[in-house]
This record gives sequence, C-alpha cells and structure tokens, in this order.
Amino acid sequence: MKDLTALISQMTLEEKAGLCTGASSWTTTPIERLNIPEMLVSDGPHGVRRIPDVNAMGATSLPATCFPTASCLASTWDVDLIRQMGVALAEECIALNVDVLLGPGVNMKRSPLGGRNFEYFSEDPFLAGELAAAFIESIQSRGVGVSLKHFAANNQEFQRFVMNAVVDERTLHEIYLPAFEKAVKRAQPWTVMCAYNKLNGDYCSENQPLLTDILKKDWGFEGLVVSDWGAVHDRVKSLKAGLDWEMPGPKPSRVQAVVEAVKNGELDEAVLDEAVRRILRIVFKAAETPKGGSFDHTSHHALAHKIALDGMVLLKNNGLLPLKSPQHIAVIGRSAETAHFQGGGSSHINPTIVSQPFKELSKQAPDAELTYAEGYPDGENFNQTLIDQAVETARMADVALVFIALPASIESEGYDRQDMNLTLQQEALIKAVCAVQPNTVVVLNNGSPVAVGNWFDGAAAVLEAWMMGQAGAGAIADLLFGKVNPSGKLAETFPLRLEDTPAYLNWPGEAGEVRYGEGVYIGYRYYDARKIPVLFPFGYGLSYTTYEYSNLLVSAKDITDQEGVSVFVDVTNTGSYAGTETVQLYVHDQKSSLARPPKELKGFARVTLQPGETKTVNIKLDFRSFAFYHPGYKQWITEDGAFDILIGASSADIRQQTTLHLRSTQKLPSLLNRESTIRSWIEDPIGSKVFSPFFKLMQENMASTFGSGNEDQETIGMDMMGFLLEMPLMGILHFQEKILPQSPETIVDMLLVQVAKG
Ligand code: BGC
Repeated sequence: MKDLTALISQMTLEEKAGLCTGASSWTTTPIERLNIPEMLVSDGPHGVRRIPDVNAMGATSLPATCFPTASCLASTWDVDLIRQMGVALAEECIALNVDVLLGPGVNMKRSPLGGRNFEYFSEDPFLAGELAAAFIESIQSRGVGVSLKHFAANNQEFQRFVMNAVVDERTLHEIYLPAFEKAVKRAQPWTVMCAYNKLNGDYCSENQPLLTDILKKDWGFEGLVVSDWGAVHDRVKSLKAGLDWEMPGPKPSRVQAVVEAVKNGELDEAVLDEAVRRILRIVFKAAETPKGGSFDHTSHHALAHKIALDGMVLLKNNGLLPLKSPQHIAVIGRSAETAHFQGGGSSHINPTIVSQPFKELSKQAPDAELTYAEGYPDGENFNQTLIDQAVETARMADVALVFIALPASIESEGYDRQDMNLTLQQEALIKAVCAVQPNTVVVLNNGSPVAVGNWFDGAAAVLEAWMMGQAGAGAIADLLFGKVNPSGKLAETFPLRLEDTPAYLNWPGEAGEVRYGEGVYIGYRYYDARKIPVLFPFGYGLSYTTYEYSNLLVSAKDITDQEGVSVFVDVTNTGSYAGTETVQLYVHDQKSSLARPPKELKGFARVTLQPGETKTVNIKLDFRSFAFYHPGYKQWITEDGAFDILIGASSADIRQQTTLHLRSTQKLPSLLNRESTIRSWIEDPIGSKVFSPFFKLMQENMASTFGSGNEDQETIGMDMMGFLLEMPLMGILHFQEKILPQSPETIVDMLLVQVAKG
C-alpha cells in the first residue's frame, strides 16, 4: 500500500478539494502528475448498469446480467447463493471496467408502498444484514468494491430529497441501522452512500452523528462515504460531518468552496486531508484489480435462473401444483409474452437476454397445446374484449396460467405506490378466468406486496414470482411443472389491508416531516404485537412437500450474555418431494424494562432434504440475540431473565420452543438523576438499597404533608401511594422542605453520590 500521508503532503489544496468531488457522473478526479488514477462506479444493485459515456446519467447501459431484484433475492434466505451472485457481479464489473458497484440497498421496508422496496431486502434488520454482508464480502473478495446504501432511513420516495425522517434513538439503532452495522462491521464495504433525506433535522449528507460518530467511530468504517447523486447541500458542512466524496461531478463551485473554507479558516485542513486519505485508499485499492476481458453470459444467466427459482414463493396451492401433464394449457396475461422482471430507476439493467414465460412453458410441455391470450393492455386502461378473449381461451383448456405483472411504471425509484392493488382490469380478468376455469394458477410479477382483492379465493394456486430477473421465466416453468420444489419464503409480511400496516397513520408524512411513530414495531413486530391478522406472514412460503420439526435442544439452559448458545433442531422431510426448508429462530424476551416486540428473528438456516430424510440444524445465538438498545445508556444492553427460543416455519408458524435463562455480565451505571421518580428509585437495583431507609422516614413524614393514606383515599378519591410513585423524589421533598434538615437538592445529590459509589 502507498504511503498516503506522503502523497497527501505533495498535493495542492486545489487538488485535494478536487479529489473530493467527482470528475464526471461516475468517476473520481484523477491527478496525473502524482499518478493518482481515476476510479469508476456504476449502479447496481442487481446487475451492472455501466453507461459507456461517463458524463451521461441515464443513457442505455452496456448489456449485463439482470439478476432478480432484492425482494426475490431475500426470499431465498440463501447466503451461499447470494455469494455466488456477488462473484458473478464482480466478474461483470471487471469485464465492464467498473471499480465499485453502487449497492446493495439495505433500507428497511417500512411500508409496502415504498417505491424502492423492490431494491431492498426486508422488513427485518437481522435478515437484511446477513444477506448484505454476504453480498458485499463476495463482491469484494474479487477486488471490486460496493456502495452500501442509502444511509440512513431512506424508507420512502415521497419528497426523498428534502423529507425529514424523525426517528427516535432506540428505533434507529434497533431497526434502521443494524443492517448497515452488520454489513460494515463484518464486510467493510469500500464505500457507503448517504441518503438524500434528512434524519432528525439534518440532511444525511451533513449528519455528523450518523456519518462520523456512528459509522466511522462506533462501527470502525474504514472506507469512504459518498453522497447519493445530488444529495449534498452545503459542501463544507458535509465534509465536516464526514461526507468524503461528493457525486456527481464535475462541480467547480464546490471545489472552490472547499478551497476558500480552508483558506479562511472555516474548515480545518486536517478534515479535508482525512477525506482525501479515505478516497485515495479506495482509489488505489480499486486500481489493484486489472479490468477488461469478458464475462460468461450463459453461466450468469443460469445463475440468475437459479436465484429466481429459490426466491419465488408459492403463496397458495390447493393441490393443482405441480401440474400433472395437462394437455391443453391456456397461458393468459401479457407478461407471459413480455416478461416483467425488474423495476424502474437507477437500478434498471440492460439485460444480456430475456427468457419469456410462454416459450419456457412450451419447452417444458412439448406435447401439450398452449394457447395465449393477452388478458390486459399495457398500463392501467380497461379493455373488456381482452377479458372476454381470455375467458374463452381458459374455458377450452385443462389449466389456465394467468400472468399478472404490475404496470412497469408503478414500482420505481423516485415515487411511491399509491396502493397495493392490481389494476382493475387485472382483478376483473382473474375473477372472470377463475369463474370458468377452476384450475387457474396466478403468477405474480411485482416487487412488493400486492392486495389479493376478491379474486384470491377463486384461484387454485398463486405463485409470487417477484421482479424475477432476466432468467425468471424458466424458473416459473420449473416450479409450475415440479421440476424443482418451491422453497422461497417471504422476507416481508403481506398485509390484508393497507389500513393495517404499521406506518399507515404516519405515511408518507407532511409539512416536510415523516414521524416514525410506530417505533420499533415494523413488519411482523407490529402485526404480532397488535394481533392483527395478515394475508401471508413474514417467513411464509409453501412447498410441494411437508416438513416436521423435532428435538429442539439448546447447548445450555443457563447462560451469560457473553457465552452465547447453540440451538439444535431436527427437520424431517415427511412428504414425497425433495425440498429445501428455511428454519427460522425467533427470540422472545419474557420481561424487560423497556417494551419489546413479541418476537424477533435472530437466526435462520436452510436445509435440503430428500423424502424421509432428517437433518439437524444448528443456529448460534450471541449477545445481540438477546440485547436491545437502551437510549438511557446509549448502548445495547442485556437484562437478566427468561427468553423463549421459538423455532418456526414462518413468524406465524412456531413449531418448537424452549426457554433459557440469561445472566447479564454488563456493569451498567445507574440512570437515576435529580428528576427520577420514586418508582425509578425503588426499581433501580442500587438506588433501592440507598433509598429504602430514607423512604421509610419520608413515608412517616408523609402523613403530616399529605394526611394519612386512608383518609386521603376518602377525601380526594385516590390511591396516594400510586400517586406518589410517579412523582419525582425532588418534587416530594420540596413539599416537605420546612421539615427537612437540608435542601431537597442537597439530599437528592447525596443519595446520588451514594448510588454512584455502588
Ligand atoms: C439513487 C442511487 C443511485 C444513484 C446513481 C440515485 O438517484 O438514489 O441509488 O446509486 O442515483 O445512479
């Protein structure tokens, strides 16, 4: 590695400021005289969007494999498969001269309406973090960097450039940061991209607590922070906050602003040097990987096919699937001829080739007669003739396969969805087809949950095929004909109604502010807590076989938070198809000082089983599996107590459970202060010892201050003790001031000193 300090000392102020802003839409500023090369970045995340002209933002990109988008990827729950995808993406980056791929996106799916949900993994931070870390490790293992985005709380598109996300500290740490945290600590992405929005009052691009205190200091991030494209408002402020590289460029005014700020003393040059050092480190790292050559289109298409296979989720099946050699198949819906396989915006890939469902079905059923009907027009128009034609086609067949894709313009970067509905035509089409053809399978192509309206009951089977990537069509055929057994499980809840969703009353915000009022209760955490029925729960997915869970064991029943524990469970394939099951482990804290969701995902494992086969799954739990973030202590803490270990086939299908006891080894300071209530004093372990003799005396004085308890209850109709518990100690002492030997402040401070001594 180069001596960066020496190199920086040779750079002029102008060169340093210049390096901190892009030279084009996609490149860093090279400095020839010092042999500092340029570095090129490209979107991401589920393919390489390499635009040949580095000054163009939205031109057609070079052909690259369009893998399934993150919703589908996450539904595989398969870190090994994601690693394979990472390696393939790195190979394509190398062939297309790309140093850094702009992805993955790990923001939480706060509402099903989020426009970019298709680009994000999950409503669960643990799952998103595990997948992102694998994604990043695998790409970077080949000498290509990534940009982990969008940091942080970019959970909607509505007013994304200006919206202030108001998120309390605990919610931020428990829900919106952990996927980033795990990815950074475990995989050290070369770059992190800040979000457009404001977080708690400051633009993410100018947010010192976020970019410097949390990301760089607490998590030890070693790479560079890049702005989202156009996210910087005040360049000097952003540099001070920890934003190293502004994109896109060129932007002479920004370079000038930095130069002037250093000259007039507003910006410490050491801050600029640190940004330069971070950028140079990554630029030189990127240059170590020789670029060029080609990539294997065929094997990458095959890998895209495999990922789509594993990510598609069978939502309903009355036994019709897998198809049993139908002679006449009606294939309905324009997305059967023209696959819908990705979303809109910066992630849009120019695919190397696209498989079409009708063709793939024909290949797998060479002896059957396949007839096609368009079913619905492009966009959201209504056309009864197309429905009538589809009904006639379905009536004549043994089976109808209805391909329903949300209109392409509905799911995109830049704006949110307005509802979860299919188009009116699509709903009417499915209903009409189901009315004449009981053997109807609905195949959905969308990036986030859709409402199933009044057609769902009529369908014999429903397959969620997602934005399935360029090879998804073959995967649909494999699953419908039973060549492969479905194994995908939802990484997000499908709610029954939009009105049931956690953020419903706080979405998408108004007057420039969106309040995350549901707190830590997003996704299944909310539906569980409120006992709200959902259409399909988090972790749900059907198979052509059945699995039985047995013999749950934990390596120890009494543990400390440092020891961790191994959980073992046997899974048996009790059906007649080979298959893969994803076992999910949720933890329930029986009692905690702050309210916690009824259960939280803390581990998962995939297991492939032949019919009749049993395998033991092992999942490890650690400190964080039991901890929660306490805003009082400003850290993750554990508390002594009982924790239920729940093993599920989904979040709503718990098959095995046991309880273990945890002992916290943390020595936490007391949170008592001058404002603490009597209840807090009594409940604090050290405080109660120090306080109880004093409290006795106080209670004796109470009668003279407030009258005796019984009388009071009659006189003012209240439980005096209940009333006092909620009063600050200081407040009560002020009522008793005339009989106290010292001032209330002195007394409370003396007690606090004793508490501090332990
Ligand atoms: C998006 C980023 C993307 C960047 C560059 C922005 O609009 O939010 O995700 O990487 O553009 O295309």
